[in-house]
Amino acid sequence: MTADVSPPVPSASARAPELWQQLQAAAQVLAAVRAGRSASDAIEAVAAGLRPGVQALAYAALRGLGRAEALRALLAPRKPVPAVDALLCLALALASTQAQDYDAHTLVNQAVEAAKRHGSRSVSNSAGFLNACLRRFLRERVDLLADIDEDPATALVARWNHPRWWIERLRQEAPAHWQAVLDANNNPPPLTLRVNLAQGPVETYLADLQVAGLAAWRNGAQGVTLEQPLPVHRIPGFAQGRVSVQDAAAQLAAPLLLDDLPAARTPGRPIRVLDACAAPGGKTAHLLELIAARGLDAEVIALDVDAERCRRIDENLQRLGLRAQVVAADAGQAAAWRAAGLGDDLRFDAILLDAPCTASGIVRRHPDVRWLRRESDIANLARQQARLLAALWPRLLPGGRMLYCTCSVFKAEGEEQVLAFLAHNKEASLRPAPGHLWPHSAIQSEALTDNAIRGHDGFYYALLSKEGG
Ligand SMILES: C[S@@+](CC[C@H](N)C(=O)[O-])C[C@H]1O[C@@H](n2cnc3c(N)ncnc32)[C@H](O)[C@@H]1O
Repeated sequence: MTADVSPPVPSASARAPELWQQLQAAAQVLAAVRAGRSASDAIEAVAAGLRPGVQALAYAALRGLGRAEALRALLAPRKPVPAVDALLCLALALASTQAQDYDAHTLVNQAVEAAKRHGSRSVSNSAGFLNACLRRFLRERVDLLADIDEDPATALVARWNHPRWWIERLRQEAPAHWQAVLDANNNPPPLTLRVNLAQGPVETYLADLQVAGLAAWRNGAQGVTLEQPLPVHRIPGFAQGRVSVQDAAAQLAAPLLLDDLPAARTPGRPIRVLDACAAPGGKTAHLLELIAARGLDAEVIALDVDAERCRRIDENLQRLGLRAQVVAADAGQAAAWRAAGLGDDLRFDAILLDAPCTASGIVRRHPDVRWLRRESDIANLARQQARLLAALWPRLLPGGRMLYCTCSVFKAEGEEQVLAFLAHNKEASLRPAPGHLWPHSAIQSEALTDNAIRGHDGFYYALLSKEGG
């Protein structure tokens, strides 16, 4: 899961699809997520013309699913079949949300229409039932919402729209921040770009956006956040590699690893950099851009276990005119390195380990993640992260740097992971790095602002230095 891809934004088309059609498809996406599939995979299966609208509806519903399920339990104590329940919960999530493009009555009418026109008899036969539930919601909305807020069995999940275990764990681990984090998770992310400094300074790009009539603000050293999201093909300079889509917190990785890295450690050979979990290549590209902008003599190997995702690294680098050695291999297995033609004695001056994680820091971008995860995933992923840390550490040269990061808010994948590593690796020490960065809503108070970035995803960063050199 990457933090660097923004959802498509509906473009103004000549003839928008009917709302009932979009609701039908969005309910299928919701049903797929409940069956354990990722929303992006389910959205890929939707007809291209419907996709942007369906994504917007499905994502909004996933951000309000806790409340919708509590409402459904009041309106229909006997849970209907999955396809009907998905349409009902979708409509309830959308109708009970303040900021919607459609008023609640239109939504209800169109949801009933979606049921009537459904290809499955079990759904079309339930149009009357759906109509009765949704009209009752419209009539008794204030009382029903008050009921779920007052019931201790439903209040927490209905208020925060995350699974109970997630809310309780976060409340315990981040007592000062958990509410702000959950609020940020329930807002769509802003669209942040990374300006390629090799093609000009951030100020010039901001000025060009202004000329193009696009409002934007500076967000970190290389970041620019657009006031209104745009599809990538309409972003000035995107096709030419002048900018890439990348969250402001994700943009901290490359400078953290490269700043202060002692220049060419072995005279006569380039600095060797490993991006160990690289796909789809957002941070690889940033590393290469900085290397070019700073005129460093360096070579980058980008590894990823997933060969299909490695192709996305190649595509991204191609758009940007950058080059790395892209290798499909398990970063934690010496045999896989050997099979890929990388020698046992290959060592690096700098290693980025952007480890596989729960992606709990990017749920505003992928609102299905909260409903797909199980609490046991945290410990399973923490074990994988520990395995990768242990396998890659010997590949770091004395005096070298390893940046460990995850887009997770859970301490087992961040602070606790690194403290356990330090306890067993006495030649490792910590250099300054942000630690846990909580997901931050651009509209939040400045209290949570860190490192001069705003509106960013949740991340964890630890910079490890190896003794010697
Ligand atoms: C958080 S994503 C990386 C995002 C990427 N660094 C970027 O900025 O675009 C984690 C990646 O780790 C890869 N991965 C998981 N286990 C791995 C392993 N054992 N070896 C190498 N890559 C692995 C996944 O395929 C996934 O692409």
